[in-house]
Amino acid sequence: MHDDRDGRVFDWLDAAAESRRRAGLVRELRPRAADAAPLDLAGNDYLGLCRHPEVIAAAAAAAAEWGAGATGSRLVTGSTALHARLEAELAAFCGFEAALVLASGYAANLAVLTALGGRGALIVSDAANHASLIDGCRLSRADVAVVPHADPDAFAKALDDHPGRALAVTDAVFSVDGDAAPLTALAAACRAHGAALVVDDAHGLGVLGEGGRGAVAAAGLAGAPDVVATVTLSKSLGSQGGAVLGPARVIAHLVNTARTLIFDTGLAPPAAGAALGALRLLRREPARAGRVRAVAAELHRRLAAAGLPATRPDAAVVSVRAPSPEAAVRWAADCRAAGIAVGCFRPPSVPDGVSRLRLTARADLTDDQLDRAVSEIIRTAPAAGGSGR
Ligand SMILES: Cc1ncc(COP(=O)(O)O)c(C=O)c1O
Repeated sequence: MHDDRDGRVFDWLDAAAESRRRAGLVRELRPRAADAAPLDLAGNDYLGLCRHPEVIAAAAAAAAEWGAGATGSRLVTGSTALHARLEAELAAFCGFEAALVLASGYAANLAVLTALGGRGALIVSDAANHASLIDGCRLSRADVAVVPHADPDAFAKALDDHPGRALAVTDAVFSVDGDAAPLTALAAACRAHGAALVVDDAHGLGVLGEGGRGAVAAAGLAGAPDVVATVTLSKSLGSQGGAVLGPARVIAHLVNTARTLIFDTGLAPPAAGAALGALRLLRREPARAGRVRAVAAELHRRLAAAGLPATRPDAAVVSVRAPSPEAAVRWAADCRAAGIAVGCFRPPSVPDGVSRLRLTARADLTDDQLDRAVSEIIRTAPAAGGSGR
């Protein structure tokens, strides 16, 4: 039973939708068909492992052995021998003492910042950090200092004179523009202040470092007693889920205190199996990491040569600025019509309010595919007379 008043409860949403429409900021879900295979420069399947037969077989074998779901929190019924194997192999591959697998990279970031933060602690956070780190800061109840992007001196200044526990947090590779954080200088600033360093290596794992061991390993910081890393299993490893990597005592603390571990169902076994399969494949085929970096560099080179404002990639992400949100949407739609899937980032997903196409390189992109993608992106670009203008 409901009356007219009940029907008006959500009327305010119509005004919000209208203001989004006027600003060119409407978002829509566009379900893709399984067999529609546009050239994908939008996803994060950097190594092309999401549909790799071995990874699919590993997911299927895990489902057959352990079931479709984890059945409960990791602290109740949701931990399996498969999770333990994945944690051991991830920690060994990335060079850390221990690892803890969670249901997503988002949950991993919330886990670290809430469990290591807390009242009286200070978290210093890069202004361009991923939303999951921002939310982790907010949930941590710590004092939070947001400092200018990629500026170790600003981190050091914010850490000065803080009497209690402190940590600095940064993306290793920033997800919008694909630039790398100055990890060595940040680690030095943290050490000078007795602070921990937390690095989100979501876009470094599988792409940077020897054989794709990640940006933290590349900076020589893996396994350090004062460094914690988080990763997602959903990008280079082609699966789903996340993990925290760090000293064993940090991981033990998370098991006991991290709410996104304790009150969330464990990672589904097929996802854990797929991630483990992908990790083993990457160990066997380390050249995939170099290939994705080479594809990204070539993508940037050609777009820049055509006069497009493309960012120089430190890993797999290249972004190209668009003159307005509407132009970015039209540019992405024109690319899609030409069979090229590209990401379209607009406010509020971009920290500086500038709309962009976000392009991702893949290790399995052929030279012909790269040629086609580049020529369509250039043809449809706003400045080149495409309808994105
Ligand atoms: C830098 C960064 N951290 C964390 C995440 C969240 O990972 P997940 O998708 O596994 O939740 C993402 C993207 O998805 C990301 O780009």
